[in-house]
Amino acid sequence: MMQSLLLQRTASRIVEEDGAFRTEMLEIASGLDGVIALGRGDPDFHTPSHVVEAAKQALDANQHHYTGPTGLPELRAAISENLRAAYGLDYAADEIIVTAGVQESIMLCMLGLVEPGDEVLITSPRFTTYDTAVHLCGGTPIPVPTHQRDDFALDVDEIEKRITNKTRMFVLVSPNNPTGAVTPPDVIRKIADLAIRHDILVIADEIYAALIFPPHEHLSLATLPGMKDRTITLNGFSKTYAMTGWRVGYMAAPADFVEKLTEPRHTLSINTCTVSQFAALAALTGPQDDMAATFRDYAERRAYLMEALTEAGLTYGAPGGAFYIYTNISATGMKAKPFCKALLKDARVMVFPGDMFGEPESDFIRISYLQPLPVIQEAMARIKAFIDAHKGAAA
Ligand SMILES: Cc1ncc(COP(=O)(O)O)c(C=O)c1O
Repeated sequence: MMQSLLLQRTASRIVEEDGAFRTEMLEIASGLDGVIALGRGDPDFHTPSHVVEAAKQALDANQHHYTGPTGLPELRAAISENLRAAYGLDYAADEIIVTAGVQESIMLCMLGLVEPGDEVLITSPRFTTYDTAVHLCGGTPIPVPTHQRDDFALDVDEIEKRITNKTRMFVLVSPNNPTGAVTPPDVIRKIADLAIRHDILVIADEIYAALIFPPHEHLSLATLPGMKDRTITLNGFSKTYAMTGWRVGYMAAPADFVEKLTEPRHTLSINTCTVSQFAALAALTGPQDDMAATFRDYAERRAYLMEALTEAGLTYGAPGGAFYIYTNISATGMKAKPFCKALLKDARVMVFPGDMFGEPESDFIRISYLQPLPVIQEAMARIKAFIDAHKGAAA
């Protein structure tokens, strides 16, 4: 078919990224009834009612206008306080930029720091938005592999091996998406040491830091000596407060860098939706009971799934946090992409293949346990029946 003129003239920074499979899966699912969605990282819980109420009040109070590009002063102050109280991080209010989800912060960080030809190391399997953002800035993402045999724990030697004179930064996502792996404090200290020795920058994506199961522990990289100067800390509201659709996240970094990024941030979207910022403020300053109850539910679902997967003859990397289980399906004799497609069509359960997390020809699926426990139990029954039928057909 003839390409349109616009397609022919697409800038070289727009490289081919594989979003096609996700779109295909969502399209197949939309034509089926009774699909159990364990694919996207979108909590089944609703946003706490006091947060929704605060947004309604903001609307009634005519908060319909632009805010400053870095965000509402009271929200930046609340984020600063929350980072100190929850993680011991020392960021003043003027060291915060509120963005449209962590997603926009990721793009802003790369725009601010990546020169063409730079290499950016990323824990892998990974949240591939990082790849796209690095590509858009002319850089090259370099995956740092982690393995099921170690529960996908990050090995600092694997980072160090990949450092070249082009390495600009390392992206640490802990807990990680899609593996749920939590990088323990002793490894975080080693990463700080490595970053200082090789003079590289670090992005610490802590969007899942409030979702960590004991005995796993979180340590924020920017709390370590010498690290605030070379780290950007990312966090947001989507996962912790079930606020994916509100689009609020933030980056925290030294004030002079924040000031330098203010104009690019203004260029991207001027400011994060004003009503959503009032909602985020209420989420941080209001009661936290909903969050605690949600966390208990996640813990229960995780425990159930780990046992049920083992019973179904599948293995996985034990997740220390987030709400995913990265499951090895090689025992079925299928690769992840055909497995996911057939599971959706035949058993009406949607999960995503490791291919969507930067691992081509993957043997892994990511299961998001973002449905009530009885629904997850039904999904597991369907998965078991699907695997048995497939084994029967192959025999
Ligand atoms: C590791 C990671 N970072 C950032 C994001 C973006 O989240 P949001 O833009 O909703 O804040 C996600 C979403 O899944 C994620 O998994």
